[in-house]
Amino acid sequence: MSIYFPPSLTEFKPRWQVFSTWTEHMPFGYDLIAAVRPRTLVELGVYRGLSYFAFCQSVQTHRLKTRCYAVDTWEGDKHTDSYGEDIWEEVSAHNKSHYSDFSTLMRMTFEAALPRFEDKSVDLIHLDGLHTYEAVKADFENWYPKLRAGGIFLFHDIRARLQDFGVWRFWDELEQEHETFAFDQGYGLGVLRKPGGRRKHDRPLLRLLFHPEQRERKRLKDFYAHVARHAELKRKRERQVKLREKLKSTPRAAAGKG
Ligand SMILES: C[S@@+](CC[C@H](N)C(=O)[O-])C[C@H]1O[C@@H](n2cnc3c(N)ncnc32)[C@H](O)[C@@H]1O
Repeated sequence: MSIYFPPSLTEFKPRWQVFSTWTEHMPFGYDLIAAVRPRTLVELGVYRGLSYFAFCQSVQTHRLKTRCYAVDTWEGDKHTDSYGEDIWEEVSAHNKSHYSDFSTLMRMTFEAALPRFEDKSVDLIHLDGLHTYEAVKADFENWYPKLRAGGIFLFHDIRARLQDFGVWRFWDELEQEHETFAFDQGYGLGVLRKPGGRRKHDRPLLRLLFHPEQRERKRLKDFYAHVARHAELKRKRERQVKLREKLKSTPRAAAGKG
């Protein structure tokens, strides 16, 4: 039995924190990069950059030789609605300040970015674009050939059953045919592994994700659900402390006169 010490537990303080339903996956995302040590990573759907910059922070902290690519029109879609130019400006400023030596923002559609990558050249793809069944299926079918043997494909929102979200339905189909692991928190995160690759050298996190024993996989799932819950409580407490400090510094507001 191998003992797994996730690096996020001891060293991960997210440098970039913005509102996102991806928040609960940040520790796992950070640990996954340390385990996969990708040479090439592509994120499809970046928005304010919460998931992408958690990946970049891990690349930097672990001194990996990863090239990271973030693809988005930064115009929004049916589910995010359209948003202003300020989002692009804040993401590109943060990228420039911290990660420009290995991270490239590609402001274009997923389709336009496709020819920029060779088949079987990408080690990890995170798909978090438009969440209809048709869009996710098309994005997966377009990008799966880009993934190397043994590579990882991540899907956000596999548990989101709202509006016309359909990732859950496509994920159900993928689970029948592929090696997968699913997290339920934060609207769900699906982890799919392409067949092949040199698995003999897998690091403990990868071995646990695709462990033949269900008990081991369940432990891992429970562990990250617990970490996510703990992080959420910590954030709530920090918000309360900040609010209390603010009220203290404005006595009129504290007395209900402001
Ligand atoms: C849910 S948001 C991404 C959230 C982000 N991963 C996070 O951590 O919060 C989806 C993004 O995908 C982009 N998008 C959707 N479909 C796209 C497409 N076909 N090409 C380029 N960008 C797309 C939208 O502009 C939007 O910014």
